[in-house]
Amino acid sequence: MKPQHTRTLTMRSRVRDLLATPVGRDVVDKVLLFSGAPRWVLAPVRHLRLGTIDRLTRRWTGVGTDGASLVEVVLRLATMPVREAGQAVASGPEPWWKSAVFYQIYPASFADSNGDGIGDLRGIIEHLDHLVELDVDCLWLSPIFDSPGRDQGYDIRDYRSVLAAMGTMDDLDELIDACHSRGLRIILDLVVNHTSVEHPWFQRAITDPSAPERGYYFFRDGQPDTPPNNWRSFFSGPAWTWSDEAGAWVLHLFDASQVDLDWSNPSVRDEVAAIVRFWLDRGIDGFRMDVINYISKAPGLPDGHPFVERLLEFTGIEHYFHGPQLHEHLAELRREGFTRADGSTAVMIGETPGIGVEIGRLLSGAGRGELDLVFNFDGLDTPGHTRWDDYRYDLRHLVDFWLDANVRSPDAWVALFVENHDNPRIVSKVLGSQASDPALRAQVAKLIGTIELTMRGTAFLFQGQELGAINEPFTGPDQLRDVESLNRLAGANSDDAAWTAVLAGSRDHARTPVRWTEHQDDSAAWLPGHERTPGFSVAAQRADPDSVLAWYRSLIALRHEHSALSTGDLTLIRRGGHLVVWQRSDAESTWLVEVNLGPRARRRLLRPDGQVQCSTSNQTDEHRISGWSAIITKVGPAR
Ligand code: GLC
Ligand code: CA
Repeated sequence: MKPQHTRTLTMRSRVRDLLATPVGRDVVDKVLLFSGAPRWVLAPVRHLRLGTIDRLTRRWTGVGTDGASLVEVVLRLATMPVREAGQAVASGPEPWWKSAVFYQIYPASFADSNGDGIGDLRGIIEHLDHLVELDVDCLWLSPIFDSPGRDQGYDIRDYRSVLAAMGTMDDLDELIDACHSRGLRIILDLVVNHTSVEHPWFQRAITDPSAPERGYYFFRDGQPDTPPNNWRSFFSGPAWTWSDEAGAWVLHLFDASQVDLDWSNPSVRDEVAAIVRFWLDRGIDGFRMDVINYISKAPGLPDGHPFVERLLEFTGIEHYFHGPQLHEHLAELRREGFTRADGSTAVMIGETPGIGVEIGRLLSGAGRGELDLVFNFDGLDTPGHTRWDDYRYDLRHLVDFWLDANVRSPDAWVALFVENHDNPRIVSKVLGSQASDPALRAQVAKLIGTIELTMRGTAFLFQGQELGAINEPFTGPDQLRDVESLNRLAGANSDDAAWTAVLAGSRDHARTPVRWTEHQDDSAAWLPGHERTPGFSVAAQRADPDSVLAWYRSLIALRHEHSALSTGDLTLIRRGGHLVVWQRSDAESTWLVEVNLGPRARRRLLRPDGQVQCSTSNQTDEHRISGWSAIITKVGPAR
């Protein structure tokens, strides 16, 4: 797929030409995903001209305030020039992060060393053994920087100091050393789409209109009753707040206290590169980069299209999810910030909500000199659903999504994840209320771990995933802390429907303290946990060879021992109903992974000739594979 296509696309082009452009393909995929429509609906329209589609759909999809129809908006996105890759692919050893298992720590809820209710850096240092035993390769710490905490640290006040409740700079230095001396790497979270309103840059910007920092943000003149455009905030309400102090509107894609930086200003980009260099000099191995695909906004900040609003219940995103200067900014930041004096680069992992596989390749393709990995969120919900729906997630979607991403990304490496601090627990999404059955819960947790750790790509685990954590039985809003959930409830018309949605999708499910012991007292924690099913703490699972934790440990060990399971080739062998079989192989070994992604036992699709390495169920035999199960078989020394 060459960007050249983009230059010639017009209303006379056909749907198939649009699908041959990276952005066109991703946008169409997104519409299918949101509407839940199957891919074959495209077959009869592939040959139609875009102009025809435009005439047929214009009345239904509406026009924006600039008069543009949906097809015109898509055409504009698909024809936006994309930076040509400059760098040749360096030959040499594979980068370390390709075969790594990352472990995400949400520091406020990992381990609290001084009992003040907030997890801290000393708590992490004291619990490093857990991570060493699990044998993960790299820790990713969600933000630990000085912050007023409106969005749990994703609103930064000072990028060069540690939040007092988390510890001190010395603690952080000690943690970095402790990781490195145990063979672990460590990355931090770079939140630079926005700063906190309490950041000194913003403070100077609002108190002194002539300060250079005024140009760091999006201030717009106007009347206090008419925001500059119709964009919405991800945390409910308009993306603009009138600042009396500044006498102007100010843009915030997230909470009103998280004000967007204007990356078209070179000083902003210099500041960010300096922050990155500051932390690399202190020894960190890279960054996960928060909503990094949102940093470039369309000039003039035009209104969002009404059809996008209908589809996503959200407005404006088409003007910044893949903005005009995004690729240039990332390439520059890689050069100016992430490249060390010796020419090596620290790892750049983009959190990139809203992108599809093709834009992911443009952002992280080998030799493009931008990001190393991207988080693509399209695998996290079954097509036709969002995080706020109370529904059962279908694991077939996860497997299909990762298989497809691998087939379509020969030039980019896939990031594998099923959980993070922004999503409910995957076992609950799959099992719903049945997750209260401990045996079923453990079974499904092991199955998911098997899928993730035998797929091709870099695996990211989120704290608690290795224990089979499930959603919290929250009983009311007073038990929640997250600004996203609370705003959603506050803005809702119907209490019942809003509560059902929040209970399904709240980020707080993932943010309660890690259960280190069976009878842990969380009552003083900033966000107390309530889920207390016996057997799902670290202490209990350490002592149990059949536990979810033991399973994760043995799988990570297997993945480390046999490169075929991480970086080897991936081939789909068979699929039927809920059963899927894939193969992993390299010069050293060949493996078959069979999974049953449904509740009922089934006849196996094949009987591999080889040695069963492990199986999640002891009821599986030569002919049958039990429900929610996986079997890993070593079928040969080499391909
Ligand atoms: C990312 C973070 C999320 C945060 C948001 C705004 O999506 O993962 O936790 O609220 O960005 O920074
Ligand atoms: Ca503490």
